[in-house]
This record gives sequence, structure tokens and C-alpha cells, in this order.
Amino acid sequence: MLNFGRNRGQTRSNRSVPYQGLEYVDPKKKSNVVGKILLAATLTALCIFMLKRSPNFNTPSPFSGHEPGITHVLVTGGAGYIGSHASLRLLKDSYRVTIVDNLSRGNLGAVKILQELFPEPGRLQFIYADLGDAKAVNKIFSENAFDAVMHFAAVAYVGESTLEPLRYYHNITSNTLVVLEAMAKYGVKTLIYSSTCATYGEPDKMPITEVTPQVPINPYGKAKKMAEDMILDFSKNSDMAVMILRYFNVIGSDPEGRLGEAPRPELREHGRISGACFDAALGIIPGLKVKGTDYKTPDGTCIRDYIDVTDLVDAHVKALEKAKPQKVGIYNVGTGKGRSVKEFVEACKKATGANIKVEYLDRRPGDYAEVYSDPTKINQELNWTAKYTNLQESLEIAWRWQKSHRNGYGTPAVMSS
Ligand SMILES: NC(=O)c1ccc[n+]([C@@H]2O[C@H](COP(=O)([O-])OP(=O)(O)OC[C@H]3O[C@@H](n4cnc5c(N)ncnc54)[C@H](O)[C@@H]3O)[C@@H](O)[C@H]2O)c1
Repeated sequence: MLNFGRNRGQTRSNRSVPYQGLEYVDPKKKSNVVGKILLAATLTALCIFMLKRSPNFNTPSPFSGHEPGITHVLVTGGAGYIGSHASLRLLKDSYRVTIVDNLSRGNLGAVKILQELFPEPGRLQFIYADLGDAKAVNKIFSENAFDAVMHFAAVAYVGESTLEPLRYYHNITSNTLVVLEAMAKYGVKTLIYSSTCATYGEPDKMPITEVTPQVPINPYGKAKKMAEDMILDFSKNSDMAVMILRYFNVIGSDPEGRLGEAPRPELREHGRISGACFDAALGIIPGLKVKGTDYKTPDGTCIRDYIDVTDLVDAHVKALEKAKPQKVGIYNVGTGKGRSVKEFVEACKKATGANIKVEYLDRRPGDYAEVYSDPTKINQELNWTAKYTNLQESLEIAWRWQKSHRNGYGTPAVMSS
């Protein structure tokens, strides 16, 4: 063991003694000091030698430079439901992926699965960071050479947004500004932005096209609309290629069963219908509560457009491929077909084989009767069509993952948002 403190056996009496006005140095002590300096220098030289021999020394990270033929995509929120599926697809298609996530809602387990599937150097890296921290975001952009950003990270529950609006404006609108500023500063040329049909509010006419007026009615939709507006204003004087995708209701999971949807248990009360349906089938909740049976729809329950996550990430890859400098593309991503809540519940019962108890209650304030997309524009311009349009099949795939992952990806590491 090295001892840089007092030598053993050395007593206070034989240490150097300062004389008034003149410093007396014990010659034995002087040689000790020289010895220590020599030892420290030798150790430092040894460390440098060993570091230089290590394979990572002097080798820049493959993520830090642009490489011809390789598109490096920053996936914000890549530990979340849609972001993890998008990362899987990008990696399968040979993209280089950097995931940035603060794990406030996502799962490190999903990232670990991706890392196991793509362990080769330069394929995937995970950076734990909060997009609200502009300094951290700038550091990420300064150290990595991104070709494109897919900005998924967001808090994304309509009900929660009405209870905590400021959180939504901060997390969605202001964080998008941070990302956009970093992209502008570091010259990242392509942005694919995750928007939502909630930006349309409650339109008079169905189906919803991209020119349907956007009149959002809750803070979630408003925060996303503001983020869209910032992006569009910025794009007017920039050569950035921008694609804004407005998703309808996302369901399903990886058909090969590697990833699934695993929201935090505390978010269940704000949750989505598919999550509630699986929880009821697993016996985690006693049954399903369908709110509103007197809407002006054929069976009285609300109508929504359910888009499978596999189709959704395909739309992202197509948007990335077709993105052009100085051009903005805005697309609805939905099937074009509305299904009622009753239909959904029946499909869910069949997919899970569970006899789910359903309770029919009064309407929930703020819910709109009917929302479904017109996907003509994305069909024509991006050559994209939804393939997973059988509700029961999508739910069967998702159910397989849910059944074998009762606790999601395992005990989540709880972190702040
Ligand atoms: N799920 C849907 O039905 C749906 C519909 C329309 C639009 N969207 C949009 O799609 C995107 C992804 O949604 P999702 O369903 O995968 O949600 P999710 O909660 O599963 O994933 C969001 C991810 O973002 C991360 N995140 C949140 N705030 C962050 C921050 N400040 N810094 C870094 N990471 C942060 C979370 O930890 C999480 O991993 C969101 O932008 C959402 O608004 C989702």
C-alpha cells in the first residue's frame, strides 16, 4: 500500500523544524520529498502508458462524427413506448441511434433490450438527460454528430394536462424550443416531430384532414400546437427539413414480442383504453369503465382511429427518407377508419380471452364524440398505408407481451421528470 502521509516510525521530534526567519530543512526529509515526486511521476507515466494502450484511448466515439452512408438519428424519449419501437425499427434499418431520455416515464429495460439486440459499437448509445436542461442538451449536441432528430419525448396524457397544465407547456412547448435551438446551433438538418390529433380539438367535420382547423381544447393539444407553430416559424428562414406527424390513438406492440407498452402504474388513472383493457384482463383492475353511451354515434360510444405502433414507426422512417431541406411536411397518421369504444372492448375480450367486466357510466367532460383521420395525404406523398388494421390482431400481439410482462420491464428506477 502506498503511504503518502507521515513515514512510519517518524516522530514529531525528527520532522523539519521551522526556525524563526530561516527555514531549516532536514536532509533526510528532502530526499523523502524527492522520492515521493519521483514515485508520483512514475505512476502518472504508467497510467498514461496503460491508457494509451487501451482500445478506447485516442479513438473518437463513432457517435461524434458524421460518417458517409450512415444516418445518425437522435431519438428523444426513446425509452418510452413509441420511441423504443421507433429505435428498434431504425436500428434494424441500419441507422445509428442515440436515445436521450430522462426515464421519467420510459423504461431502461426497453433500452437494455435494444442494446442486447444491437451490441456492436456505433449502433446505439443511451444518454440519460432531461431536455429541459438546456446546458445538458447543448453538451449532447456538441459531442455528437446527429443527422436527424425524432422528437418523441413528452408527457402525453390529456387528463393529466388539465390537472397540471404548466407541466405540459414546460415539457412539451419549452423543451421543444430547447431541442430546436440546439439543432439550429449545431446545424442538424432534419426534424421529425411527434404531434397529435389532439391539436385539432373537436372539429365539426369528419374525417380530419391536415387542413382541418386546429382548435385544441386541452393543455396537451395546445402545448403540441404551440410546439408545431414554433417549428413552422423557425423553418420559414431555415434550410431545415421538417416533418410533423399528427398521430391518432396508438395501440399494439412489436410483433416479435421484444417491446411493449409499459406506462408507470401511477399513470393508470389517466391511461389509455388499451392499457385499461389489459389491466382488466390481468385482474389488476376489476373491470373497464366506459364513459358515455349517448353520443351521436351508431352504438352511442365514442369513436376513435386506432393506429398500430408498427405502422406508426414505418411512417416515421418514410418521413425521414422523404424529408427535404427547406420543406415542411405535415401528415395525419391514422387508419382512416373510426372504431367505437364498444367495438374496441369486444376486440379486446376476444384478443385476451378474458371475460372483462364492463361498467357503462355517464360521459367524461372534455371527451369528443368522434375522431378519425383522412390519411390520403400521407398515402400519396409518403407512399405509406396502415397495414395492421385488424384491431383484434393488434391487440392479440400486444396482449402476448402484456401477459408475459405483468410487471412491465421490471422494477422501474423511479426518477424525476
Ligand atoms: N401514445 C399515443 O397514443 C400518442 C398519440 C399521439 C401523440 N403521441 C406522442 O408521441 C410521443 C411519445 O409518446 P409515448 O406514448 O411513447 O409516451 P411515453 O410516455 O411512453 O414516452 C415518452 C418518453 O419521453 C421521456 N421524457 C419525457 N419528458 C422528458 C424530458 N423532459 N427529457 C427527456 N425525456 C423525457 C419519458 O421518460 C418517456 O420515455 C409523445 O410526444 C406523445 O405526445 C402519442
